This record gives sequence, structure tokens and C-alpha cells, in this order.
Amino acid sequence: MQNQLIMEKMQDLTALLKHEVEDLVSVEDQIIEAMPAMIERAKNTTLKKNLRDHLKVTQAQRKRLDEVQKLLNGQEQGGNEKKGFLSNLFGGMTKHECKGMKGIIDEGQRIMAEDMTESVMDAAIIASAQKIEHYEICGYGTARAYARELNNQKVAKLLEQTLNEEYDADQLLTKLALGSVNEKAEGRSPSSNGKSNGAMKKAASANSAGTVKKTATATGSSVKRGATKQKGAKAGTKSSPKKAAASKAGKKVR
Ligand SMILES: [Fe+2]
Repeated sequence: MQNQLIMEKMQDLTALLKHEVEDLVSVEDQIIEAMPAMIERAKNTTLKKNLRDHLKVTQAQRKRLDEVQKLLNGQEQGGNEKKGFLSNLFGGMTKHECKGMKGIIDEGQRIMAEDMTESVMDAAIIASAQKIEHYEICGYGTARAYARELNNQKVAKLLEQTLNEEYDADQLLTKLALGSVNEKAEGRSPSSNGKSNGAMKKAASANSAGTVKKTATATGSSVKRGATKQKGAKAGTKSSPKKAAASKAGKKVR
């Protein structure tokens, strides 16, 4: 509500891109705050290492967003440095909070507070981490599409660098989940019959097999002209129900 009160009327795609980037700043800040608890709870050594590595990557991504904001603001007002005293003074009050990411992190924290075995906890942490990654892939994919539409190649490249890192993190998590973690979480006893095992396996893998393909990232593609020029959209079928569903699913909830 506060954000709605203070937000200036957005007149063009540049304004929308700035808003999207501001949203991503909040996303990265929240992830940096949330990840240490996930790292601590994870027991699988590879998962722990992957999360630790990605925390470092996330910190670098946050700095990259500062660069993006400087480039975007520099175009019209010489960057944040030229903001007035009052603007700086009330900067804290106007800070945007991404409610979509807040919800995902809240849910992750809630599941981590449940009583479960170490193996099940690892599977739950992977699922939470992938929800985070998919949200980021949606946000960065959209922002990159806007930057490309605006012919701002510098910004598009910076956003794409992060987008690719998110894809890599997502794929590592899927590999880990399907490679061993989900199976351990299945808690199969030697006396279990095949039928129940199959049912459990299906349910478990649904948590962590949701890797987003690079073809599904053009969440902002309907706004731009050069859809086919987008690397991520090359294998996408423009009018396929699959792509339409992916685009719909990528819509943000604020
Ligand atoms: Fe990130």
C-alpha cells in the first residue's frame, strides 16, 4: 500500500524496467538474508556446497544490480548521487519490498521449521531453493526482454549474466534432487512394495524436477518486437499452448 502511494505514474517501458530492477534488488536482498539458514539446515554435503557457492554468486548479482540501476538512472538524472537531501533522508521509507519473494521465503522457512528427517529436509530445501530460482528466472527474463526492447545492450547483458547464473543454479539443484536426494527422502524400507514406492517417488520428484528450460524465460516477450532474436526464445514455439502457459505462470504476484 505504501509503495502504491509513493510510486510515480509509470509512463513508458523504461519506467517499468526500473521498477522490475527495483523488485530484483529486493529479491536479491531477501535471498542473501535467507540463505544462511538454508545452508545451516542442509545436511547433504553437495547441497550445502551448492548453496554456499550460490550465496557468493547472489552477493555479486546484488552488486551487478547497482550497476544496472546506475546505467538506467544515469540516462536521465545522472544517477542516484544527484538525489536531493530529502530524497536520501526518506529513501528508507520508500524502499520497495518484493512481496512475491517474501511469500516464497516465508513458505520455505515454514517448511524448514517442520519436524522431518535430514533426508526429507534436504529435499524440502531443494524445492524451496528452486521456487526462488524460478521466480528470479522470471524476473530477470522479463527485465532482459525490456532492456532489449529499449535497445539498452549494456543493461541487457548484465541482466543476462545473472539470468544464466540462475539457470545454472537451478539445473544443479535438479541434478542433485533427481540424482540422490529425492531417493533418500523416499525413506524406502526393504519390505515396501513396488506400488507404494512408485507413488512416493512420483510425489517426491515433482518437488524438484521443475527445472525451467531456457525456452520458457521470455516472460516479457509479448512486449517486444524481436522475439526471435532472443537467445532464450529460439526454441520456443511462439503460439504453442506450452509457451503461453509458461508465460502465464511467469506472471508476478505483488
Ligand atoms: Fe539471484
